[in-house]
Amino acid sequence: MRKHIFNAGPCKLSDRTLENTAKAILEFNNSGQSIMEVSHRGKDFQAVMDDTVVLMKEILNIPDNYSVIFLGGGASMQFCMIPYNFLTTKAFYLNTGTWSTKAIKEAKLWGEVIEVSSKDKDFTYIPKNFNVPDDVDYVHITTNNTIRGSEIHEDWSFKAPLIADMSSDILSRPVDVKKYAMIYGGAQKNMGPAGVTFCIIRNDFLERVVDRPIPTMLKYTTHIEEGSMYNTPPCVNIFALRETLYWVKEMGGLKAMDKLANDRANMLYGAIDGSKMFKGTVAKEDRSRMNIVFIFEDKYKHLEEDFVKFASSKNCVGIKGHRSVGGFRASTYNACTLEDVKALVNAMKEFEKANA
Ligand SMILES: Cc1ncc(COP(=O)(O)O)c(C=O)c1O
Repeated sequence: MRKHIFNAGPCKLSDRTLENTAKAILEFNNSGQSIMEVSHRGKDFQAVMDDTVVLMKEILNIPDNYSVIFLGGGASMQFCMIPYNFLTTKAFYLNTGTWSTKAIKEAKLWGEVIEVSSKDKDFTYIPKNFNVPDDVDYVHITTNNTIRGSEIHEDWSFKAPLIADMSSDILSRPVDVKKYAMIYGGAQKNMGPAGVTFCIIRNDFLERVVDRPIPTMLKYTTHIEEGSMYNTPPCVNIFALRETLYWVKEMGGLKAMDKLANDRANMLYGAIDGSKMFKGTVAKEDRSRMNIVFIFEDKYKHLEEDFVKFASSKNCVGIKGHRSVGGFRASTYNACTLEDVKALVNAMKEFEKANA
């Protein structure tokens, strides 16, 4: 029996993604070969790559003047590639948690970082109405904070080019791509298995690449010019990502994903807010729909491990909070169903009845 999976990433994937990838691993396109065994330069895999780019553009409504590439190295590699390529003098970073803090650390290797942060309240809110100088090379934001459970729910705009790490909320709502110079993220939440990173880059932003020697593999232009085939791409992961994109399309696209995200989040936050035992940690208007972070009221804190075990006995797995926050985190990405959330809510209610 399949569990109710609330892992933060890698995480639950659609049945279509798992089934079709499993089949392609055994035999790809009636070729008598596994997807792991065929050449990435062969026409069959090239078709997978081409399809994946077309689906990304279609589903995310990406304008023609943007390039879509797939790379290795995780979103963490982007933390260094972005300043390496685009930071000449100074950049603005919104620091909303662990991942933006890591991105800032890399940027500081290459120039000045102007930072606005929500660290003063343990990253439990998204700063608003802050000033960004117009002359920064770019503005960097993390739209969903996977660990702390906060999220920027709309598309912002600034005079300076906007770069967004959307690792953990890409494909969860329609995005106005033209407001961004670049969107990137690791695939391992809403897109597929870990091991592939997507970058969506506005072509004219590439004209701003800094005048410094950049290793070939770390240059965006290398990967754009070579259609993500400068080096051997992670073929199986890209195949799985394509299957997820087909699944998103079948499900009704990003509007349907958006509605599902609201329904899941309303159900779970509703249960948290209606409970005497559990409470949320993030400012209500900034709560993430992808990573729902909650804790026990102080007098029940000693029961944390018991609740994780109890939830697991009800087949709800992956709800232990990140080690830096404690408590609980239910990651409710696109493939998480209302039935999964209902199972967790029932476990919470049952546990509360027995212990509060
Ligand atoms: C928002 C965000 N950014 C960046 C990362 C780092 O991604 P990777 O592990 O692919 O380097 C993560 C990982 O969970 C994340 O959630």
